[in-house]
Amino acid sequence: MRLLLVLAAFLASTAWCADPLPSDASVSGGKTMVAKVIVNSGRLEWVPHKRDLTPWLTLSYQDRRATPEPARFAMKTPLNGDAARGKALAWEWCVTCHALPGDDWPGSVGNPMLHYKQFKHPNPLVFQQIYDARVYNPTTIMPPFGRFGLLNEQDIGDLVAYLQSLE
Ligand code: HEC
Repeated sequence: MRLLLVLAAFLASTAWCADPLPSDASVSGGKTMVAKVIVNSGRLEWVPHKRDLTPWLTLSYQDRRATPEPARFAMKTPLNGDAARGKALAWEWCVTCHALPGDDWPGSVGNPMLHYKQFKHPNPLVFQQIYDARVYNPTTIMPPFGRFGLLNEQDIGDLVAYLQSLE
């Protein structure tokens, strides 16, 4: 479910383009539908996402809407992030691909985030990676969370604070 949630969220806003949603986009009643696992049933239930994700690109091959170019964003210093809130966001948006402490079903697509603090990465670098990772790696599969408007500046600051707190 997490993977589908993120895939549904891997997007770019129609604010940048006029093309309509493709007919095979998983949208119902104006809401993006995401798959919810029905535990131990082998089945999925499709439920509307709590946010309207329809402005952004879907996985449909027919989705020809334009995406915003990669962009840099200078983090305001010093970092003003709430690690507890960042943790909640990470469990919503990042755990699909990255292993986080306490996750017994970790994602293995991105780097494990266990003991992240040990790397001593500068905050602005981590912030940019979350804002728009394409600046570092044009072919990354990590969604440009900030650039695509999925997360705001405060959200990203909170995520940086959380990652940098992982002993
Ligand atoms: C769709 C998979 C995916 C999702 C979702 C994802 N990432 Fe990533 N992430 C990656 C990949 C793959 C890399 C490796 C670098 C690259 O490919 O550009 C990466 C790299 C990173 C890095 C740099 C690596 C390092 O060790 O410092 C950070 C920081 C990071 N991700 C944070 C996040 C955060 C925070 C979220 C949630 C808001 C997130 N990622 C969501 C796939 C993902």
